[in-house]
Amino acid sequence: MMLAESGRHTSGAGRRLIIAIDGPAASGKTTTAKLVARRLGYMHVDTGAMYRAITLKVLRSGLAPDDRQGISRLLDSTRVQMRNEGGTLHVLLDGRDVTEEIRTPEVTRAVSAVSSLGDVRHAMVREQRALGEKGGIVLEGRDIGTVVFPNAECKFFLIAGIGARAERRLKELQAGGVKADLKELEKEIAERDRFDSTRELSPLRKAADAVEIDTSDLTIEEQVEIVLGKVRERQEQLRGV
Ligand code: CDP
Repeated sequence: MMLAESGRHTSGAGRRLIIAIDGPAASGKTTTAKLVARRLGYMHVDTGAMYRAITLKVLRSGLAPDDRQGISRLLDSTRVQMRNEGGTLHVLLDGRDVTEEIRTPEVTRAVSAVSSLGDVRHAMVREQRALGEKGGIVLEGRDIGTVVFPNAECKFFLIAGIGARAERRLKELQAGGVKADLKELEKEIAERDRFDSTRELSPLRKAADAVEIDTSDLTIEEQVEIVLGKVRERQEQLRGV
């Protein structure tokens, strides 16, 4: 930990960067972020999982996903934490592991509405900035490069065709024993992207200085290599400063 702290303040190849990976639903962010973080020895933070955890609490509390006041009150007594255990990211909600529960279709349907609320974003962004301030971190989400860390040294924006994204989501769900319909998934993903891109606060948008990667026809290893290549380039650049 001390190493990470002092490393942030030095320039050069050993400098621990902030890497921002944004993009629409199922564009490959989580897989890429996880592997990039592992290869660099960095921490991985899936900010979508944080928004999913608060959404789970909203649903369990019997609140509507657009109940602004009720949700604001709920936030005061809510703790969302991320923990890396043996290379796997776990999400804790008020101290309980909710890593599995946050992936249910109910949470997926409600998460965009909950994350469009100002108080929710404020609380989550504060937590994300605290996690990332010392560098050595890969954060993935919708607004990392634009709002959470506009000064991140490396920014990526992952995209993929809707067909490829729906198929990936279908496989994920099937692996978890959940039945789903490809056309329904396409509709759900497109709808969530529309909502996330047109909301007033921190909409999904590519930062001007982000590198766009279309992952439709890339293997996981290829997309990880592209990101790592850019990170190395950036470290070289910074070494010259
Ligand atoms: O994994 P998937 O692509 O389904 O989405 P996610 O990354 O788990 O994010 C779920 C939802 O959280 C998104 O649809 C956004 O509404 C919201 N989100 C956000 O508003 N800001 C972020 N930085 C990350 C997620």
